[in-house]
Amino acid sequence: MNWNELKATFGPTIAELQDEDRFLGFSATFDDMLFDYSRTQMTDDAREGLFDMLEEREFELIREAMYSGEKINVTEGRRVLHTALRMPEGTRMMADDEDIAATVLDSRAACYAFADAVRAGEYAAAAGAFTDVVNIGIGGSDLGPVLVAEALVADMDGPRLHFVSNVDGAALNQVFQTCDLSRTLFIIASKSFGTIETMETAKMALARMQDEVADASVHFAALTTKPDAAAEQFGIPAQRCFGFADWVGGRFSVWSPIGLPLMIGLGPQKFGEFLAGAHEVDEHFRTAPLGQNLPVLMACVGVWHRNGCGYPTRCVVPYDTRLATLPQYLQQLDMESNGKRVTVEGDEVDVATSPVVWGSAGTNAQHAYFQMLHQSPTPQPLEFMIAAKPVAEGFEHMQKILIANCFAQSQALAYGRSEKEAEDLMIEGGMGPVEARELAPHRTFPGNRPSTLLMYRELSPRTLGRIIALAEARCFTEGVFWGVNSFDQWGVELGKVLATDMLPHVEGRFSPDMVDEALSGPLAHYHGL
Ligand code: F6P
Repeated sequence: MNWNELKATFGPTIAELQDEDRFLGFSATFDDMLFDYSRTQMTDDAREGLFDMLEEREFELIREAMYSGEKINVTEGRRVLHTALRMPEGTRMMADDEDIAATVLDSRAACYAFADAVRAGEYAAAAGAFTDVVNIGIGGSDLGPVLVAEALVADMDGPRLHFVSNVDGAALNQVFQTCDLSRTLFIIASKSFGTIETMETAKMALARMQDEVADASVHFAALTTKPDAAAEQFGIPAQRCFGFADWVGGRFSVWSPIGLPLMIGLGPQKFGEFLAGAHEVDEHFRTAPLGQNLPVLMACVGVWHRNGCGYPTRCVVPYDTRLATLPQYLQQLDMESNGKRVTVEGDEVDVATSPVVWGSAGTNAQHAYFQMLHQSPTPQPLEFMIAAKPVAEGFEHMQKILIANCFAQSQALAYGRSEKEAEDLMIEGGMGPVEARELAPHRTFPGNRPSTLLMYRELSPRTLGRIIALAEARCFTEGVFWGVNSFDQWGVELGKVLATDMLPHVEGRFSPDMVDEALSGPLAHYHGL
């Protein structure tokens, strides 16, 4: 099937597609997890066509190439092996003559040992055991750890975790104001150890710690592929520098030493459960037939919405406050991976690639932007997520209200309410017919707005590992559909280079006139403030 043929299958409404077999035919399960895409406009023909497209693109071959460590990130000449990061103890894996298993398992053991030592107070500051751990990192060196720390806050029993990502000083200042710095450990997380935001923030933290304590170096650890730079710039010794290979992509790195703050906060055992959940999804993604393969189905729906139906965004709404950061995490995962304009071969892509990913936790989202989702003329697909079980005993009734809201939204979006129904309802409620006729257009819901649902029993470390691994595998599959390299991020480079070039102008060392006319205005204004 080609893209035009896929578009041609778009037509029947969600209501028209419903029959008694719809749910069974358009949903799939993985253990306790349900992926329900029955309230979308996906047809049998569209789905068959999407499976054909994957076959034409040799999806299974590319997937195997990723798992076995081939250098599928061709523009950077790198393997893509985040799946290897969650392999269980005892696994053996070689790629060419590189012992991947040894690299992963040794590095995991070193991180676990350090995490245990910090938790037990065996590795401590002069003032005592560390009470606070501050992760300094950005992008993939921040978002995964933040997401997991927020989602599993109830499972945390180690030192308090803090995350400082931006270079605007606000978050670091808050750490300075609220933490006992004599018992605070800073972790500098940067794959490249060259990201300006992280480096400048870490320098500020080091300078402050040098004023606070006799041996500031004790308060620092690093997570990076560049241990020499960590030693050179911050004096961090090898035993507190946790390295990883260049085949760990930033946005896929929460499973690597980048997860160290989580290992400290949760403890190695729970972090291990998080890895195990992801590994289960890896096995499922690698072996399940397309029609039962959750990430493949999620990708098919994603591509269907983007290229079959032409929706420009996807709105992710976890009815689970613990996953409030997930939309942000997915923004980097999906938009940095698949927001590309050329194929792996360097030819222009002939279809739209990554949609805009956005969203936030429900039900709060209902009271913010759902108005637009229900009644604006431009529909956007939604992706709901929800746990069946409440966060703790005693919250059962609240959880039921949450679930009812989630289901009700998906019904309202799918079936809407006609003008006639709206009018009749108002008249039944005692309103006069003239007023009811006038108000009816405002109270009409067009419906036929698609949504999917991912439901899981409870949000445990294992479930969270599964949810993130599902998203990664979906992202990979969508990349195969679009023919792009999902593992580079050259689009971020230009801004980084220009920011460095811009700094002397902002510092006033160069005259504003030396930049182009459009910028000399704001620069001159800035210097006047
Ligand atoms: O935003 C671009 C990027 O390179 C991301 O891919 C990465 O996660 C982030 O910067 C941080 O990079 P690093 O870990 O090297 O500091």
